[in-house]
Amino acid sequence: MRNNIVYEGADQLTYEIREIVNVAEKIAKTGIEIAWENIGDPVAKGEKVPQWIKDIVSDITKNDDSSYGYSPTRGLLATREYIAKERNLEGGIQIKPDDILFFNGLGDAISKVYTYLNSKARVIGPNPAYSTHSSAEAGHADAPHITYKLDPNNHWYPDLEDLRAKIKSNKDISGILIVNPDNPTGMVYPKEILKQIVEIAKEFKLFIVSDEIYSNLSYGAEHFKLASVIGDVPGLALRGISKEFPWPGARCGWAEFYNCDKDADFARYAKTLLDAKMLEVCSTTLPQKVLLRVMSDSRYFPYLAERGKIYQKKADIAYDVFSKIPELILHKPNGAFYMTVVFKGGVLNNKQKLLPANRDAWEIIEKIGNTDKLDKRFVYQLLASRGICVVPLSSGFNSDLYGFRITLLEQNEEKFRKIIETIAEAIKEYIK
Ligand SMILES: Cc1ncc(COP(=O)(O)O)c(C=O)c1O
Repeated sequence: MRNNIVYEGADQLTYEIREIVNVAEKIAKTGIEIAWENIGDPVAKGEKVPQWIKDIVSDITKNDDSSYGYSPTRGLLATREYIAKERNLEGGIQIKPDDILFFNGLGDAISKVYTYLNSKARVIGPNPAYSTHSSAEAGHADAPHITYKLDPNNHWYPDLEDLRAKIKSNKDISGILIVNPDNPTGMVYPKEILKQIVEIAKEFKLFIVSDEIYSNLSYGAEHFKLASVIGDVPGLALRGISKEFPWPGARCGWAEFYNCDKDADFARYAKTLLDAKMLEVCSTTLPQKVLLRVMSDSRYFPYLAERGKIYQKKADIAYDVFSKIPELILHKPNGAFYMTVVFKGGVLNNKQKLLPANRDAWEIIEKIGNTDKLDKRFVYQLLASRGICVVPLSSGFNSDLYGFRITLLEQNEEKFRKIIETIAEAIKEYIK
C-alpha cells in the first residue's frame, strides 16, 4: 500500500467470546460434542420466542408496507413516544421522544458512542469488561481500555475508591461506563452505589454511559435504571430488544440522552451521534414497529418474569455446585443470564492438566494451549477434555483475574446441571 491504511486502534479490537468458537469448532471436528456455554444468544440456545410475539411480527410484515421502508433517523416517532412515556411514568428524569436515538442493535450504538467521542476523551469501564465496550473504547483512543475494579469479594459491586482514584489521577477520563445488570458477572447494582457513581461524575464533571440491555431481565434484586438517579448529570442509557424479546437478529437498540440541556458539550456530542446516524439514513424499521406493540402488550412483563424465574433457578443450581469448591470465588447472579467464576490467587499454574478426550484434540490444544493466561489454558483444556465451551475472564473480559464466564441459557435443566457438575469435576481434577 502507498500509505498505511490500517486503523490506529486495529490491535485493540478483539472479541474472545466469539474467537473461542474457532477453537471449539476445531475440537468438534475431532468428534467431541460441544456444549456451547459461551454465547449470550438465547435463541441460539433454544429459547422459544413466544407465539404471540411472532404473531405481531407476522401481522406487521403482512399488513404494514411501511415496515419495509426507511424510518426517521431518530427512530419511529410513535415508538419513541411510547418509550419516553414509560420512562417518565417510572419517575426520575423526564425525557422527550427527541432524547431517544435508535441504532442497529447496541453493537452499533456502542461503536458510535466511542468512535464519535474526541480521541483524547477516555471512558473508564468496569473490569471484568464486556469486550464490545472495552475494545471499542480502546480502539477509539488507540490505547488500552482504562478500567475500575468490580470487586469479586463484594458481590462484584464497583470498587468506588478505585474508580475515584483512577479518575482523579487521569485527567483524560471524561466518562464512566456502567453495565447494569452486568455482563459477565450477572450482578444488579444497588441504588446507593449508582447514586455514588453519579456523585463522582458530578464532582469531576464527567458523563455516564449506562448499558441497560438486561434491565428487564433482573430476578434476584430490584433493578434501578440510571434515569432514576442521574439528577442533573449528563448521561446516556443504552437499551435494546436482543435479549428481552429475544430477537438479537433484529439489530435493534436505542440510546436515551439525559440532560443535554444542562451541558452544551454533551449536547454537541449527542448531536454528533445523531448526525452520524443521519449519514446512514436510519436504523432497522420493522423491529421498532414490533417493539411498540410487544412492549405495550399485557403479556410482555409476565413473560419476562417467567424467564427471570428460570434463570434464577439455574443460578441457584450453578451456585450450589461451584460453592462446594473452596478454591473458587463466586456470587449468585441476579440479572442477565451469566455467572462468573473466579479462581482464587495462586490456585492455577501452568503444569495443571486435564486428559483430552482424544489424541487430535490433544494436538490442537498442545499447539495453541501454551498461553501465559492461566484461565485460558484451563478453558482450552476443558474444551478438549469435556467438550464444554466457556469464556476465559482474562482474555475474554479484559480482566486481571483468572476465571471464566458461563451462561444460564441451557434450556434443559437436567442437562444444565450435568454441564455444571462436569465443569466442577474438571476443576477439581485440574487443581488437585
Ligand atoms: C452488555 C451488553 N451490551 C450490548 C450488547 C450488544 O447487544 P446488541 O445485540 O443490541 O448489539 C450485549 C450483547 O451480548 C451485551 O451483553
